[in-house]
Amino acid sequence: MHEVTSKSHWHEPAGGKKAGFGDFKKQKTPYDEFMDSEGIPCFRGMGFKRAHDLPLEPWKRTGGRGTYVQLYGTETKWGCYVVEVPGAGALNPEKHMYEEVFLVVEGRGSTEVWMEGDTKRHTFEWQKGSMFSIPMNTMHRIVNASSQPALLMAGTTAPNVLNMINNVDAVFNNPFKFTDRFSSADDFYKYKDDVEPDPVRGLAMRRTNFIPDVINCDLPLDNRRSPGWRRVEPFMTNNQFYYWIGQHEMGRYSKAHAHTSAAVLICLTGKGYTYTWPEKNGVTPWQDGKGDEVRRVDYEYSGMVTAAPGGARWYHQHFAASQAPLRLTAWFGPFNPGRDPGPPGEKHTDYTGRDIPEGGTAIPYWMEDPHLRKEYEERLKAAGVENRMRAEYYDKNYKGPLPTE
Ligand SMILES: [Fe+2]
Repeated sequence: MHEVTSKSHWHEPAGGKKAGFGDFKKQKTPYDEFMDSEGIPCFRGMGFKRAHDLPLEPWKRTGGRGTYVQLYGTETKWGCYVVEVPGAGALNPEKHMYEEVFLVVEGRGSTEVWMEGDTKRHTFEWQKGSMFSIPMNTMHRIVNASSQPALLMAGTTAPNVLNMINNVDAVFNNPFKFTDRFSSADDFYKYKDDVEPDPVRGLAMRRTNFIPDVINCDLPLDNRRSPGWRRVEPFMTNNQFYYWIGQHEMGRYSKAHAHTSAAVLICLTGKGYTYTWPEKNGVTPWQDGKGDEVRRVDYEYSGMVTAAPGGARWYHQHFAASQAPLRLTAWFGPFNPGRDPGPPGEKHTDYTGRDIPEGGTAIPYWMEDPHLRKEYEERLKAAGVENRMRAEYYDKNYKGPLPTE
């Protein structure tokens, strides 16, 4: 740490040396300082098995108990926390200049949302598996309808905003009204299940500010990650915060693909595990003696894993390993895949949904490290789960779309 004191002098480097310390520690960002000031823990790591197991501490500002979560690779990209709403209680009303989406992990209750100064309030009820968005800077209050504690997980753009303006008061005490993100229309929090193509990649998108049950909701066929893969991206309250809900069939696993950090997966159904490794280590890391650099997280409902823990591109691959489909929601903050660097209008491809021989970053099953298939077969056998990976998937000479039955 460099301290500016009257005793600290800067000298030009002598003898052709380079200026500066060379090695130094990453500094806390304004958002890191803000999390510290909140008096609750912050979980940092690759991921965890269940949100229920995270240590929570009393959280004065919200009136609940909570913890921040900052998985590796998401630092400065977007924020996350888990909050417990006391039984038969409520969180304190608040507004803030950042986006906030919620996933209800456990419990049932309701949320009130209103524009400060307005008498009309939206009130909608939620249960385990509900997702909803709070429009930027609208007042909101989260109420627990049961006598048991409720557990909610939130994704925010708080780091993005705080790190730019570095003033907490300007974030929590700002009079600006986003009339483009909020409306008093009666159906504002009514679930809309129509599907349309998203404007960037043409994938299935739902414009809805509320989803009653992401654990059981209908998902359109996508096929990009694994045969039979289903997926939808909800578009809520004109947010920049990007996320999707997807599902691998029981007895199958995704192809690995690579991209830079931001994405975090949260498990909604089934049990599974994720491998992630730096793209520079190649497509067969075990075979090439780099297996010790591969990271793994096992999870079940409400568990989380980071897709790309380092800054560069990392491969990541997800395995459905129980008697249920592996349903996941992936959160990216404002880093949707249409936002890779490059000028507007430049040709861009769906490279994570395209195999390496076709110019993408997805490793076709026939090209992957044999360790993965072998281990998966053993795992399913031990769990008594039918293996639905077909021989064609591993056949280099098989032409055409992979069979999904
Ligand atoms: Fe990914």
